[in-house]
Amino acid sequence: MKEAKSKLVCLDCKKEYSPEEKTRFRCDCGELLEVISDFESFNRSPENWKKEFDSKKDEIAFLRYKDLLLPDLPEDKIVTLFEGDTPLFKANHSLSEKFGIKDFSIKHEGMNPTLSFKDRGMVAGVSWANHLGVDFVACASTGDTSAAMAAFAAQCPSLNSIVLLPEGKISFEQLSQPISSGAITIGLQTDFDGAMKLVQELTKKHPIYLLNSMNSIRIEGQKAIGIELLHQMNWKIPDWIIVPVGNAGNVSAIGKGIRELHDLGIIEKLPKLAGVESEKANPLYISYKNDWAELKPKKAENTIASAIQIGNPVSFKKAVRELKHFNGVMEQVSDKEIMDAKALVDATGIPVCPNSGVALAGAKKLRENGKIKEDESVVVIATAHGNKFSQSIIDYHKGENTYSNKPKSVKADLLEIENALGLNQ
Ligand SMILES: Cc1ncc(COP(=O)(O)O)c(C=O)c1O
Ligand SMILES: [Zn+2]
Repeated sequence: MKEAKSKLVCLDCKKEYSPEEKTRFRCDCGELLEVISDFESFNRSPENWKKEFDSKKDEIAFLRYKDLLLPDLPEDKIVTLFEGDTPLFKANHSLSEKFGIKDFSIKHEGMNPTLSFKDRGMVAGVSWANHLGVDFVACASTGDTSAAMAAFAAQCPSLNSIVLLPEGKISFEQLSQPISSGAITIGLQTDFDGAMKLVQELTKKHPIYLLNSMNSIRIEGQKAIGIELLHQMNWKIPDWIIVPVGNAGNVSAIGKGIRELHDLGIIEKLPKLAGVESEKANPLYISYKNDWAELKPKKAENTIASAIQIGNPVSFKKAVRELKHFNGVMEQVSDKEIMDAKALVDATGIPVCPNSGVALAGAKKLRENGKIKEDESVVVIATAHGNKFSQSIIDYHKGENTYSNKPKSVKADLLEIENALGLNQ
């Protein structure tokens, strides 16, 4: 057997474990684990790393970057839905002007097969579950994690999936996804934080493989978002990368991936990293404002950004470490700011979800308050597709909002249509 390149290491006491352990998600001391891989053992120069990625341009993104993600995963265990290679949209001139950001791009992770970035973690997590030979996978979810987990598990005949959802707090489209993929779907009368607590108890007691982002294998998969972005930009580093934050797994993953690229000399400069929360669910923002003080879990209030309505982010420590390393900041935004920023981007033909709207509104605000300078380049990570949250779109446009585009209703009559179009004046 080949010597393993990766191990799980405690964030705190540095105790090491094998990723082959099926039920190990935390250290004995209670702290989270992270994957540490020996990339030096590949013995590649920065140029050779880049050549390696270029030579795999036609492979799925996970395979292209696999040496930096899960080098020990046997290729025949990969469960893929052809995720990744998501578009990087350059904002048009008018959108750029509205945000006050000249060099403004959006990496749209909502263009993944289950319409969110969660597919990046699930190709890693479900493939690893397949490699371990487990029968059941489970997660708690604000909607997108369960959609992705259920779809990937459905590709793998030996895997059954269980999802725990906060009842009434996810969109209809999101709920339809795990159900249609065949997952055992359980609604709970609690919020996400309550569901998260219960799924940990469940997977501790029974031989069920946990696929929330506290499973650090998933974080390794999500690193591909940042790596692929910089590869797409031909390794030219933007000044800022802006990410919406809920459980704080994604900002940690994007940070870890880019930090490792930098450590290997593949990139020479680091971007700045900004995390953005809804002001209704803002524990990281509060910590940042208090000099990165300890996490004070709070009850998340209702926000239009339902996928990030999280008051006790599991990956808090990892996120703070990355944000500090990247000279990063946190920002918070209101529901109105979220929906207005989303509407501006939607209106350019790029449909983004309200959670992506959080990062977009954050970019606008950080530019307005001068944290982002006029000539700095910005990439916002859009995390899910707008059509996963169609109710919020209909409500916004039917209401009296800044950028409402109200649908009209007229009799089935040519004259009425002409009147509605102002053609008879
Ligand atoms: C669409 C969307 N955006 C952002 C997030 C936040 O990601 P994280 O929980 O990793 O911070 C989530 C999930 O929680 C999500 O579903
Ligand atoms: Zn420990």
